[in-house]
Amino acid sequence: SAAEKDGHDYFMLKEIAEQPKAVADTLLGRIDAAGSLRLDEVRISASELREMDKVVIVACGTAFHAGLIAKYAIEHWTRVPCEVELASEFRYRDPILDPRTLVVAISQSGETMDTLMALRHAREQGAKVLAICNTNGSTIPRESDAVLYTHAGPEVAVASTKAFLTQLVACYLVALYLGQVRGTQWGDEIQAVVRDLSRIAGAVERVLHTMQPVRQLARTLAQKDTVLFLGRHVGYPVALEGALKLKELAYMHAEGFAAGELKHGPIALIEEDLPVVVVVPSPRGRSVLHDKIVSNIQEIRARGARTIVIAEEGDEAVAPYADHLIRVPVTPTLLQPLVATVPLQVFACELATARGNEVDQPRNLAKSVTVE
Ligand code: G6P
Repeated sequence: SAAEKDGHDYFMLKEIAEQPKAVADTLLGRIDAAGSLRLDEVRISASELREMDKVVIVACGTAFHAGLIAKYAIEHWTRVPCEVELASEFRYRDPILDPRTLVVAISQSGETMDTLMALRHAREQGAKVLAICNTNGSTIPRESDAVLYTHAGPEVAVASTKAFLTQLVACYLVALYLGQVRGTQWGDEIQAVVRDLSRIAGAVERVLHTMQPVRQLARTLAQKDTVLFLGRHVGYPVALEGALKLKELAYMHAEGFAAGELKHGPIALIEEDLPVVVVVPSPRGRSVLHDKIVSNIQEIRARGARTIVIAEEGDEAVAPYADHLIRVPVTPTLLQPLVATVPLQVFACELATARGNEVDQPRNLAKSVTVE
C-alpha cells in the first residue's frame, strides 16, 4: 500500500530516500567521541586481526560491488593484500586459505546460497569468516565467526540500494578498524576519513535533493538500447553497479568498464549519440586519476558519445566535455562511491518507470537467491 511506501510510488524510491538514515544508523555507536573505531561487537580479537596476512571478500551481485570498493580501502589503509571474488567462482576454484586469512562475506539477506557455500568452504580450511549482513539471525551470520550488521532496515525492492550504501559503510569501518588495530603509516589520513565518514550521511542527503535533472535525463533516454558506464579506481565498481541497476530495472544493455581499458576494446562500441556515464574522481588528492579520466571523456566525445558526467562540486576542468553534468559533494576519493552511486540508482529507477517496467519486482529476478 501507499502507506507502506511512505507516500512513494515504489519501495525502491522509499529505500533510496532512506539512505542518509541507513548510513547514519550503520555508523551509530561505532565511532567514539575521540574518533576511534569501536567494533568490539566483531568477535575476532585485535591480536588475531593483527596476525591476518590476507583478506578475501566473497559476495554476489550488488554486494560483490561493495566488496570491489572495499579492496581499494583495505589495501590502502592496512597494506594487507585483499582479493575480491564472486562467491560462485570462489568455492569451485580451490582457493588458498589458512587461519591467517580473514574472509569477509557480504550479504544483504544473509541467505544467498553461493555466499553461504563460499563461507562454509573457507571455514573448512581454517579461515576466519566475518559476515557483513543486513538481516539479524540469518544463516550467513549464524555460520560465521563474527558479524558486523548493516542497519539499513528491511529492504523490499529487489534491486538493492540502501543495503549497498550500508555495505560500503561497513566495509570502510572494517578497513579503518583493521588499520587502527594494526597501526599504519596512514594514521592521520584514517583520522581525517573517520571525520568525513561521520558527516557523509549529510552529503548523501544533499545528493538526493538534486536528482530532478537526473530524472529528466533518464526519461529522454527511454528509447535507447545501450548505456555504457566508465570509471577508474573506486569509480570503476560504481560504474559496474550503475550498469547492473540498469540491467535489473530497465532491461537495457548496460556495461561498466574501467576507463583505462577503453582502448583495449570498449572504444569500438562508441558511436554517435551513445549515452556513456562517466564517474569522475576528485581533482584533489590523486589528481592524476582525474586527469586521465578527463582525457578518456575527450576521447569518447570526439567519437560522438553523449557524455553523462558525475563529478565533484567545483570540478570545472571536466565541465566542457560533459553533455550532462551531475554534481556530487566533495568527499575523500575512497568515500566517493557513497555519493556517486545515488544518481545511478535514481537514473535506473526512472528509466524503468519510463519504459513501463515493474520497478520493485523486475522480471526473472529474486530478492534473495537461495538456490545455486
Ligand atoms: C540477488 C538480488 C541482488 C543482490 C544479490 C546478492 O541477485 O537481486 O540485489 O545484490 O542477490 O544478495 P545478498 O542478499 O547476498 O546481498
